[in-house]
Amino acid sequence: MSQQVWNASLYDQKHAFVFAYGEDLLGLLAAQPGERILDLGCGTGHLTAQLAQSGATVIGLDYSPQMIEVARQTYPQLEFVLGDASDFQLAEPFDAVFSNAALHWVTRAEDAARCIARALKPGGRFVAEFGGKGNVAHVSAAVSQAIREQTGQHLPHKWYFPAVGEYASVLEAAGFEVQFAHLFDRPTKLEGDDGMRNWLEMFAGSWLASLAEEIRQNVLQRAVELLRATQWQDGQWFADYRRLRVVAKKLRG
Ligand code: BEZ
Repeated sequence: MSQQVWNASLYDQKHAFVFAYGEDLLGLLAAQPGERILDLGCGTGHLTAQLAQSGATVIGLDYSPQMIEVARQTYPQLEFVLGDASDFQLAEPFDAVFSNAALHWVTRAEDAARCIARALKPGGRFVAEFGGKGNVAHVSAAVSQAIREQTGQHLPHKWYFPAVGEYASVLEAAGFEVQFAHLFDRPTKLEGDDGMRNWLEMFAGSWLASLAEEIRQNVLQRAVELLRATQWQDGQWFADYRRLRVVAKKLRG
């Protein structure tokens, strides 16, 4: 995953929609009592805890030490491990791997798919949702333009937003049968007048990390100004999210 440094309390206070939308995905997973489930990219552990209410044994894994620390403090009864989605191995196999709003940070998607397949029992399921092709297209175009204006340079983001066919191929190559894949728009309300600025501060940190502080501030201000035309509607900020939702089964043998 990227070198993003997370402010876990800001994440919980201002960006709770990340795990609120994930509750919907829990229905698709339909965790059963006694199952072993891995929550990949568990963040501060709120969905991990909801999953555990099903009676399944759930382990949360995240790349961010800040997130894992908060998850362990909030849910001391649950197990959380620090790890990289594209390079992990856990001792006992799982019935299911679940991942909400995390895999767009994982650019080594083939490695992640192999690790997920290895973590599953034969016939085990992988249920995930993350940013798909076209995700935050307006937001990233505005930030790119602001960077170009401020520095004269093209600085690409490093998020992974695959199309359905592209990601299905990644999963098939790793030994999965893809049973469901859906790319859909989910315009997402950002709280308050500073909602877009807060979103950029929270999520574009690693993208803008190489810029000097003054330039970074100018880029953020200009990006918000540019975005007002398309992403400020009826007194609310919206991020132009597009989600890719997948359900896949690990093939036997
Ligand atoms: C998303 O949830 O779509 C997202 C989060 C952080 C960066 C980019 C996209």
